[in-house]
Amino acid sequence: MQLTNTQRRDFDRDGLLIFPNLFTPDEIRALRHETDRLAMIEADYIKRERTGALRTIFRVHEDDGPTRSTAFRALSRTPRLLGTAMQLLRDEDLYIFHTKINLKPALEGTIWAWHQDYGSWRLDGVPTANMLTYLVMLDDAEEIGGALYLLPGSHKLGTLPHIEDAAVGALNQYSVKRDVLLSALGARAPIAVCGAAGTVAVFHSNIIHGSGHNMSGRDRRQLYIVYNPVANKPQSVPKPRGDHVCSINHAPIRLGGDEGILAAAAVDAQKRPHTAPA
Ligand code: SIN
Ligand code: MN
Repeated sequence: MQLTNTQRRDFDRDGLLIFPNLFTPDEIRALRHETDRLAMIEADYIKRERTGALRTIFRVHEDDGPTRSTAFRALSRTPRLLGTAMQLLRDEDLYIFHTKINLKPALEGTIWAWHQDYGSWRLDGVPTANMLTYLVMLDDAEEIGGALYLLPGSHKLGTLPHIEDAAVGALNQYSVKRDVLLSALGARAPIAVCGAAGTVAVFHSNIIHGSGHNMSGRDRRQLYIVYNPVANKPQSVPKPRGDHVCSINHAPIRLGGDEGILAAAAVDAQKRPHTAPA
């Protein structure tokens, strides 16, 4: 999939692109089925809401570990995602910084505070903000379901001061400082990333974003894949976070086929639910 000059220009200006219906209903069905299987696993890579409902399943792109997934691994290597990431980052040697599925269950899924991803990734020792996050909608995303809000153009502000906000869910989150955030929100209108399942959004690691509570009766499951150039891999820091948030596998990943998801999902379907792979 070749990006047009207009798409590249829009990305440079807004820090985001949206691709409606990039994945087919069959592919999404297979990925949801796989998400249901992963949701049965108990592992450190799985975070819960205070109610016990699932919040996040990390590290679904590798071929080892409890949350490994053949289907999500294939998805992360498709030309539709990896190929366009190579074009936007102007680099063919990319690795995956992390993957996560945010499940935001009906009524129980809670907020993600306004933040820039690079606000915490720089503390992981990543030298520059030249990183991309791809969001793949596994369900239809509606505003009432706690859609992700992006602040177009905010990546041009550079990396802003963040505060540690322990009140935000099970994860140790960072939020943009209040006065800086208010001025950014005053200057631009946020957009809610809504769309049919299979829709994809890609955004720059300095874009300000966040999402609210899921007030709807439907789950809002979304996969996030973060691509980073190998040349931008983290330098060592005194207290490195876990491999599930800051991967230590910096080997460049290679393009797979666009047809790989359905075949891979068939492999996952053979795995028994309720048990973590050895
Ligand atoms: C994130 O910013 O990391 C996740 C936000 C969301 O899933 O709404
Ligand atoms: Mn984020």
